[in-house]
Amino acid sequence: MTRMQQGGMVKSRLCLVAAVAWLLTVSALAWMFVKGWTTPGSDHRTEIILAPSERDLILAEMRMLLKAVHGVITGLSGAGGDMSVAEGAARAAGMAMAADVNPAIMTKLPLAFKQMGMSIHQDMDALADAIVQKETPPQLLQRLSSMTARCTTCHDMYRFSAEK
Ligand code: HEC
Repeated sequence: MTRMQQGGMVKSRLCLVAAVAWLLTVSALAWMFVKGWTTPGSDHRTEIILAPSERDLILAEMRMLLKAVHGVITGLSGAGGDMSVAEGAARAAGMAMAADVNPAIMTKLPLAFKQMGMSIHQDMDALADAIVQKETPPQLLQRLSSMTARCTTCHDMYRFSAEK
């Protein structure tokens, strides 16, 4: 074997090592993107590990979501005045609410969590639009019910770590 042939073999081996290292990095990133920062919880739910301030932020969002649900039901029941109350409540939990979540938190959340969360914000906007377009109360309740189904599904699947 000539020296040039040997040099060629070393080069192609280096290429292979680089390719494998690249693949490993990409798969690790993809895995993290799907799984987020999680660990099995003591109650069979998946525990998402967040810093206390991040957890506070998302829990505050959650309480806003419940307020939105409350506002819509109150509007629909006629107890809280007109439907503009319901519209405002739904709009407040729309995509505008999701806009300021910081990227550090996003990388820690599992993909399924993000998808469910984002779909709620989209559907809240759609609900607000539907109220403006005067959909009937049963239609609006159906929209809400498809969302509360996701609230309960996600709550059954995930919890946050309770570190202080
Ligand atoms: C993508 C997942 C997900 C969706 C969708 C979701 N939640 Fe949550 N929610 C959570 C998690 C996780 C917690 C924390 C549970 C724990 O740590 O035990 C939580 C907690 C809460 C809390 C408690 C807040 C606090 O201060 O402790 C409320 C209220 C709440 N959610 C309301 C809602 C409502 C209403 C909806 C639907 C409109 C909803 N959530 C949709 C994941 C979700």
